[in-house]
Amino acid sequence: MTAVSILLMTACSSAGSAGAGATGGQSASSQSGTQTVDSQSAGHQSGAQTVGGQSADSRQSVSDTSDSMSTQRSSSYKVGDVVPEYVFTYAENQTSDYPTTQAARYFAKLVNQETEGRIEIRVYPRAELGDEKSSIEQLCFGGIDFARVSLGSTSEYSEESVVLQMPYLYKNADHMWRVLDGEIGARIKESFEGSGIVALAWFDAGVRNFYTIDGPINRLEDVKGLKIRVQQSELAEDMVTALGAEPVPIVYEDVEEALQTHAVDGAENNWSSYEAMGHNTYAGYYCLDEHMRVPELMLMSEVTWNKMSTIDQNIILQCAIEAGDYERELWKKREDSSRDKCLQAGTVEIVLSDEEKQRFREAVDDLYTKYCSEHMDLVKEITEAGQQ
Ligand code: GCU
Repeated sequence: MTAVSILLMTACSSAGSAGAGATGGQSASSQSGTQTVDSQSAGHQSGAQTVGGQSADSRQSVSDTSDSMSTQRSSSYKVGDVVPEYVFTYAENQTSDYPTTQAARYFAKLVNQETEGRIEIRVYPRAELGDEKSSIEQLCFGGIDFARVSLGSTSEYSEESVVLQMPYLYKNADHMWRVLDGEIGARIKESFEGSGIVALAWFDAGVRNFYTIDGPINRLEDVKGLKIRVQQSELAEDMVTALGAEPVPIVYEDVEEALQTHAVDGAENNWSSYEAMGHNTYAGYYCLDEHMRVPELMLMSEVTWNKMSTIDQNIILQCAIEAGDYERELWKKREDSSRDKCLQAGTVEIVLSDEEKQRFREAVDDLYTKYCSEHMDLVKEITEAGQQ
C-alpha cells in the first residue's frame, strides 16, 4: 500500500469521526460549488487562475509567482471570473525564493489547476503568519490551513517523529530518502493522526552544521562553552549540551539579530538557511560536522481536511507529493549555490577528519537512550536501510 493510500484511508476515517463537512474555519469560505462573479459581487479575493503546473516551463515560472501580500494587493474579481469555493492559507517561514516556498507555490498552482479554480491557496512566506510552532498551533484549530515545518517543531504532535531527526542517524541524503520514501516515512506521517494535523509530504532540508562568529570549530574541544542558538526543540538543546556548549533556543526569524548582536557565539543550520537568512554575514566559520538531518513536512489542518470531499482530499495529497518531489530537485541546486555564494563572500569552511567526526558522534550517543528507548526497533530499521 502506498503512503498516499495509507494516509488517505486513515485521514478519511478520522474525517468520519470528527464530522466531515464542518464549517466555521477562518480561512475556508463556505460557498458550495464554483461560482462566477456577477457585476455586484466582485470582492477582494483573486479569481481562479489558469495554470499549467506540470510542465517544466510552468515549474520554471513558479519562482516568479507573486507572494501572498502582492496577490492580495493586485487581486480583485472581474466580471466573468470564477470565484473559488475555498481560499486557504499556507504558512512558510523561509524567504520567497527558498526551495520550500517555491514548492508551496507550485503546490498552490497544481491544486488550483486540478480543482479547476475551486481551491485557491495563498502562500505566506517569511513567517508572516507566525513562527513555526505557532503556525502548527494555528493549524490545529483551523486558523491556518497548510504549513511547511521542520520536524524540529513537531515532537509534541508525534513523539515518534523525533527518531527521524536523531544526530548522526543517516549516512547521507540517499539513506534518509530511502527511509522517508518507504514504509517508515509513511508510518511516521500516519503517527500524526488525531493530533490536529495531517502530514502530507516530506521535504528536504539537507544537513545541519555549526557556524560560529569568533573562530573556527576544528575539534570537539572548540565547541565547549560556546553559546549556540538552537531550534525550540528539547533534542536540539540536549545535543548541544552533550557536545559541551550552551544551547540558546531562539525562533528562526530572530537568529540573524542574535548573531549580529553577539547574543550567541554561533548557530547551526544547513547551507541554504545560513545563506538565505544572512547568517553568513555575522558568523563566518562553517564547520562540516554534519550533526543532523532534520526532514521537513508539508502539513494540513485536520479541521480543514475534514471539510474536504474525498475527491479534493485526494487531489491535495497527490499535489503535495508532487510538490515534495519538486522541492527535492530545487533543494540540491540551492544547497550548492548557497555554499558557493557564502564561500565567495568570505565564509571559511572547515572540513573535519573522519576521526574528529567520530568524536562528535560518540559525544551524542547517549541521546539515543533518552529519546529512542521505546523505538529501538525503528532505529535498527533505519540503520539497516543505510546498509542496502
Ligand atoms: C531550517 C528549517 C526551518 C526552521 C529552521 C530553524 O531552516 O527549514 O523551517 O525553522 O531550520 O532552525 O529554526
